[in-house]
Amino acid sequence: MEKTYVMIKPDAVQRNLVGKIIARFEQKGYKLVAAKLMTISESLAKKHYAEHDGKPFFKDLVSFITSGPVFAMVWEGDNVIEVSRKMMGKTNPQEAAVGTIRGDYGIVTHRNIIHGSDSVESAEREINLFFTQEELQNYSKNI
Ligand code: CMP
Repeated sequence: MEKTYVMIKPDAVQRNLVGKIIARFEQKGYKLVAAKLMTISESLAKKHYAEHDGKPFFKDLVSFITSGPVFAMVWEGDNVIEVSRKMMGKTNPQEAAVGTIRGDYGIVTHRNIIHGSDSVESAEREINLFFTQEELQNYSKNI
């Protein structure tokens, strides 16, 4: 079954949005297989965002994502990578549709509430960056 890496960013943790965001994934029917509140090191941030290295916003991105705890999660389910990105909405919260997570909770791109893997390859890479295999729970769930 497909898995994706989802990270609630420091802005949303600060604003007490963790429970509301988890609820959306639970209500949708996806299965939570791993979760932890953690503060990301600069080196992990640079690995996670390696594809953006060299872009004008890279330094600010690394400094923001390491500025406070994030809530890191792995969600599992049918087509979860694509569907969860639809649930998040466009990267720029001002362009994200109302009803999406970013559309409902965010205003600016560099404080856009949540991250989700954008492909099978990036999901695998990001899950392995943030979690060990032992941390991924294997259980059945009737939905
Ligand atoms: P995310 O999905 O975590 O992936 C890269 C992040 O870079 C993105 O969300 C934004 O939060 C952040 N970012 C900051 N500035 C920009 C920008 N100008 N264009 C795209 N992404 C940006």
